[in-house]
Amino acid sequence: MGGHTSRQVLRLCEAAGLGGADSADYARTLLAALGPAAERPLALPPSADCFLSDDHTPVEFSLSFVPGAAPTLRVLLEPGFGADGLAANGRSGLRAVRAMARRWGFGTRRLDELEDLFFPPAPEGPLALWCALELLPGGVPKVKVYLNPAAAGQERSADTVREALHRLGHRQAFAALPEGDRHLFFALDLGAWEKPRAKVYLTHRNLSATAAAGLSRMDGGPTRSEVERFFRTAAGHGTAAGTGGRDSPAGTGPSLHRRPGITCHAFTETGSARPSGFTLHIPVRDYARHDGEALDRAVAVLRRHGMDPAPLVRALSAVTARRPEDGVGLIAYLALVHQQGRPPRITAYVSSEAYAVRPPAAEVRVPAGAAL
Ligand code: TRP
Repeated sequence: MGGHTSRQVLRLCEAAGLGGADSADYARTLLAALGPAAERPLALPPSADCFLSDDHTPVEFSLSFVPGAAPTLRVLLEPGFGADGLAANGRSGLRAVRAMARRWGFGTRRLDELEDLFFPPAPEGPLALWCALELLPGGVPKVKVYLNPAAAGQERSADTVREALHRLGHRQAFAALPEGDRHLFFALDLGAWEKPRAKVYLTHRNLSATAAAGLSRMDGGPTRSEVERFFRTAAGHGTAAGTGGRDSPAGTGPSLHRRPGITCHAFTETGSARPSGFTLHIPVRDYARHDGEALDRAVAVLRRHGMDPAPLVRALSAVTARRPEDGVGLIAYLALVHQQGRPPRITAYVSSEAYAVRPPAAEVRVPAGAAL
């Protein structure tokens, strides 16, 4: 598994224009972060269910686009994959993050301060710790850590998020969050960030474009029409090709009925109650018949924002030899990202598919309400 995913990193780095030395370094970094789980042959099924990707590969790639510059390549991974249980998974994740901190010389104080909240003795939930690396030129990545608000029980997740924000100095942040169904992740930027963020991810069942447009709480964020347009294009609503969308009540248009939409609210200023960032993630894979369709939507969204889609096309061929039409899920999510003081970004999440490819959906329209 490590061989496969680190070769993917190598090829993606090359496709993203990183130098040979950086690319080789990052491929080795991925192997080191995966630990012993990397050695498990791909012919064996994944050693555990991994919530990180549909086929349980503990690795997912993403490309984050801005206008007028090359996209940034990132890799999300579960360092504790293959550990015996969630508690051991979390401990192994913490060790991996601390090893990165020593190697690249950054502090982990913000994470250390939250350890008791997110790493109880008998944790619950779909993950313990994930980390993401932004693979920048120069061989030193930026690091992000994803924690599980439901670690001490789903019913405690709101309290856990409120307390974590409070400890980081964001005393009024929790009250600024919009309604959601679940607190999915609590994420921290670690290392040399200009403005490290604390981020709260919320899920939204049956989300419609209109409802999504009302979820940003940041000042100077996206306009309603920008969010609605992004939503409709990414979800395939309003196109003949769209398979998604059951009409939601109250005339808000088709909604995400198979897999929820996700919003992310980023906090940087402790002096302000409001978030300084907003992201909307659309799980395009559950609303497209195949990745050819998902790619067309990504291309449309990128072009509309003045971004060159060519690196995404190259990235897909770097991770797999299959044709986009021959499966669905290679592009897992499309996201619209707003952060104060920065141009809007578009992020495409690309699956490793180390273990499995989901077959394309049938050509016929999936009946409304069909659950996957
Ligand atoms: N696989 C999970 C999901 O689809 C978690 C996840 C992985 C995710 N990458 C993501 C969620 C990117 C949001 C954005 O929900």
